[in-house]
Amino acid sequence: MEPGSRDASSWPVVGEEIRGQREKHWVRAPDATVWLRKRHRPARPFEPAIEVLALELARACYIEAAQATLATWTDAGGAPARGICVLRFLQQNDELVAGYELLCAVDRAYDPERREAHTLERVVHALRHHEGLTDHPLVEPFSRMLMFDAWIGNTDRHPGNWSLVRRDGSLRFAPMYDPAGSLGAELQPDASLLLPSQSPSESERHEVAHARYIARCPSGFGDGAKLVPLEAVVSAAAAARLLSASLLPTFETALRERVPELLRTFADDALPAVRKRFIVDILTRRLAWLKGMG
Ligand SMILES: Nc1ncnc2c1ncn2[C@@H]1O[C@H](COP(=O)(O)OP(=O)(O)OP(=O)(O)O)[C@@H](O)[C@H]1O
Ligand SMILES: [Mg+2]
Repeated sequence: MEPGSRDASSWPVVGEEIRGQREKHWVRAPDATVWLRKRHRPARPFEPAIEVLALELARACYIEAAQATLATWTDAGGAPARGICVLRFLQQNDELVAGYELLCAVDRAYDPERREAHTLERVVHALRHHEGLTDHPLVEPFSRMLMFDAWIGNTDRHPGNWSLVRRDGSLRFAPMYDPAGSLGAELQPDASLLLPSQSPSESERHEVAHARYIARCPSGFGDGAKLVPLEAVVSAAAAARLLSASLLPTFETALRERVPELLRTFADDALPAVRKRFIVDILTRRLAWLKGMG
């Protein structure tokens, strides 16, 4: 599905979704499909476009991901609202098992209230354990998602932002969802990273600022004692031979072919030109960085 914006005003609310932090509801489209309607955080007006873009890009890289569309609707108070609608990927009788639930089931020492307890080692151990009990690969799709997160700079792969699906008694890795905290969604309009450099000395500062931005990108993972940056997670994954290096040429092709196509589908109010330039730039830089991590 190509991005575009859908008017979801007439889609009735069919359920609340209490997981996650943003205001959201399950709504039913006229064709009876069910979607998670999420409003963007006020300080992040381009988050909806970035989330749709990231999910589309994942699919272009053969990573299973939820389908989403930009949407507008009228809120309970009658005011216009905008955000995204994400197509429900669960079939009837499917049950979603969140990352933190999986970790709790396998590891008695794990405390889901402690975000820093979401360690790569713990996750891989829990996935390997369940791989022995199901016909589906679990570590490999997780690794592919992590590799994609590393490319787009996903700051927020916390243990509620990945899941397994229990279907007919067996577990499979859920499609990727909620990559909203990536591709500079948090950058405010005055952020210097968004502006092109005007002179050679400025250009040097610009390079340093970008390198620092990449090195400091948060991850949603910890080391048991504190939260750690994505760079540390990627290095640990590389050392454990978990990184799917075969995705690098896929990312390269997607950056050249699919990214420009996708960016063109977003109108300026959904994603201004300055953000589009930043996205191409940061994807190019992060791909070079990721190649160096292997
Ligand atoms: N397409 C989908 N199909 C089924 N369940 C979904 C789908 N997308 C999200 N969910 C479920 O809804 C929850 C909330 O969604 P999501 O993570 O996108 O919201 P959020 O408010 O942005 O979360 P966060 O607290 O990470 O910011 C997820 O944790 C997941 O359990
Ligand atoms: Mg979430």
